[in-house]
Formats: sequence, C-alpha cells, structure tokens
Amino acid sequence: QGTSRINEQGHLEIGGKDTVELAASFGTPLFVYDTQMIRERAQAFHEAFRAQGVNYQIAYASKAFSCLAMLQLADELNLSLDVVSGGELYTALEAGFPMERVHMHGNNKAPEEIDMAVANGVGCFVVDNFHELKLLSKAAHSHSKTVNVMLRTTPGVEAHTHDYISTGQEDSKFGFDLSSGQGDEAVAEVLADQAMHLLGFHCHIGSQIFDTTGFVMAVEKLYSYIASWDETYGYAPEVVNVGGGFGIRYTEDDDPLAPGTYIEDVIEAVAREAKQRNLSMPEIWIEPGRSLVGEAGTTLYTLGSEKDIPGVRRYLSVDGGMTDNIRPALYEAAYEGIIANRADEPAKTNYAIAGKCCESGDMLMWDLPLPDAVAGDLLAVFSTGAYGYAMASNYNRVPRPPVVFVENEEARVVIQGESYADLIKLDQPLHAPVKA
Ligand code: LLP
Repeated sequence: QGTSRINEQGHLEIGGKDTVELAASFGTPLFVYDTQMIRERAQAFHEAFRAQGVNYQIAYASKAFSCLAMLQLADELNLSLDVVSGGELYTALEAGFPMERVHMHGNNKAPEEIDMAVANGVGCFVVDNFHELKLLSKAAHSHSKTVNVMLRTTPGVEAHTHDYISTGQEDSKFGFDLSSGQGDEAVAEVLADQAMHLLGFHCHIGSQIFDTTGFVMAVEKLYSYIASWDETYGYAPEVVNVGGGFGIRYTEDDDPLAPGTYIEDVIEAVAREAKQRNLSMPEIWIEPGRSLVGEAGTTLYTLGSEKDIPGVRRYLSVDGGMTDNIRPALYEAAYEGIIANRADEPAKTNYAIAGKCCESGDMLMWDLPLPDAVAGDLLAVFSTGAYGYAMASNYNRVPRPPVVFVENEEARVVIQGESYADLIKLDQPLHAPVKA
C-alpha cells in the first residue's frame, strides 16, 4: 500500500521514513500521512475524468482531514474544496486556497458564515434548504454580488455500503426533498432571484460505498426531476454533483473499487439520462474525502499495560484511543494494525487493543492478531487518515497528537501536538491558584 514497506531492520517504513525513528523524534501517538499516496489518489480521479473527456471538479471534502498543509496539498493537486463551516472556510482562507474553487456546504449555515463566504467570493453555495436560500439572497444582495448556487437534493437513495434503500423520500436532515415538490419550489426561487445563479444540483448518498449501483440510481432519480424542471422552467443544469462516499480499505474484508470505476459509471449514467431528454452533458463534480486521505494515514501508538483474562481475552493498552480515533466507539469501525518495530514477525496471539480513556467503550480493536507484544512496542494502525484527527477530542484532557507528512525520506510536522498548557489556554480561573 502506497510507499509503506518493511525495511532491513524489520521496521515499518512509510515514505522512506522508519516509523521507529518517527516515533522517537515526534513521540506517540503520532499521525503519519503518506503524501505520495494522496497524490496518487487525486491523480487517479483526475485521470478517470480526463479519460472520459468531460468537464469536472474534484472537491476534496475537507471534513475528512483539514489543516493548512493539507489544503495547500489539495490546491497543488488541482482539487476543489468542500467546506462545511466557518472554521473550515477560515482554514481554506488562511491556507491561501483559491476561493473560486471552494464549495460552501452545511445544513444550517449561520448568517455570519454565509456573509463570510459571500464576502470572500466562494465558488458556489451548496444550498440545503429554504431558510438558507433567504439568508443567501439577502447576503448576495447586500454585497451586490451574484452567487453560484447548487441545490442539494435528496433523491431518495440511501447507501448502506452494500445495501441501497430507495424510497420516494429520504428521511434526512440534508437537502431539498424531491418527492414533495420542494425541488420545484427551490428551482423557481433561485431562477427568479437576480443575485443567484443556478449552477445545478447536488446529492450525496452516503459513505464508504463499494459499488456504483447507488450512484447510478441517484443519477436516474435526479434526472427524472431535472426533466420536469426542463419542461416547467426551461432550465437544464450546468453541473451535477454526485457527492463523495467512495469506499476504502480498512481491513481485508473491504474491497474498494478503483476511482475510475465509480467515475465511469457515474458519467455513463449522466450521459445516458441527459441524452434521453435532449439535454446537454453537464460538468460532473464529486466530493471525495475518505478515498483521498483515509488510507494515506497511519497512527503510531506505544503499547503500555497488558491485562490477561485467561481463556477470555488479552487486553493491550495504547497511549491514545478514542481521543484520536472515535470511529470504533462511534461506528464500530474496524481497523488493522501491526507491531511496527517487529513488522517481519508472524502474528501469534489475538489482542484486544484498548485506549487510555476512562471509558469501557474506548477500544480500538477487539481481535488483532500480533506477534507476542510487550510494553514499549510500537503499534501501527492503518487507514486512520480520514475522520481520525478531524474528529479528535480532548476528552480526559488528553492533548491531541501531532501530525506529520512523510515523503521522499522527509518528515514534516504539519500540526503540532498539543501541550498541557494548550489544554488550559482558554480556561478562565476563578482566582489565582492558592499554593498549599
Ligand atoms: N460530500 C458530502 C455532502 C458529505 O456529507 C460527505 C461526508 C462527503 C462529501 C465526503 O464523504 P467521504 O468521501 O469522505 O465518504 N465521520 C464519518 C463520516 C461522515 C461523513 C459525512 N459526510 C466517518 O468517520 O465515517
């Protein structure tokens, strides 16, 4: 996978850097990103679109992992950017990300967030609801600007990895419900407003999806409505955005498709649907988060205490846990890992890997086969690049770990680890500490 390999000392190496040395230099827990892999993923999406000869944008869903360096890398890779909050937008601004390639998302954008995005000239608003349409119109008029609008729709296709639920209606907090005619009203409202330019339509069917059926179903559903908007308003979209959700490999059981396969099937479906209705081929936009950065991230932990319940389970604890990876506790997400300092040794024993938080649910893995592991060994957990650091917390007042990018035998800190002092930075004491 990517640039990972086992070196002569039997150590896991990423981007030409020995993980044992990385742990020694930067401490653990440590997030290590193989940036070469991020480049390759972005390239694969670009190539898939170019091969089909359509106009496109690939918007990196920055919720998966956002920091200044990551957004600058995304810019270098000619990606657009999906931001969902004032904070993600601020990060993009500070990174110098071109605002015309920023797509502003969110189901409850605050007036201040909308104003900030309009003032800074974001490329488009993915508008979620009627309340937002009003706020956006007001902001656009007050800035004397015309803003680009994508209407987020819920075409009634929900992906649950391999199962698809197709209903007339999707019971979701996001987007305009199409079945009840909300789409028609929204289209009419945007078309009537001088300060808004309707670019097209957006949908997002879910995450960690391993086949293309759901995307094709969503395109077909959406086009049945697009056809009616063409008839009623003479409007055809310039852009269709099918969202993100392309699956990645967390464990051996996951079998992700190549980026090209998703893209080919989506483009084929849009081309077919558009042609059937004599509509021109729109630009195709996508919003991958996990599939760009997920597998590129590895977390390094140091093993500490062990608890053996004979015949039941052997627990090994790491120096992090739900504070740097909430996904197992929140979604029962599965991961795999190895002992990075003895990566060449065969696995012998199944271990349950526990985090260090005061909470029974703070488990990273329940059955990880490892060679006999001892305190001080380095555990590498794979595919932690998406929604790991991004969802990290200071629960138990655990400082968030540093993040390094590695490539071509170089390691670069892109987010510093928090110190204890950082943890109380915003605290306002009642009085000066009374020394005993
Ligand atoms: N576009 C929209 C509108 C989204 O809501 C999302 C993810 C994406 C794109 C990117 O999806 P991706 O390609 O990364 O699957 N915290 C959860 C995932 C939440 C995803 C929310 N929306 C997790 O850790 O699995």
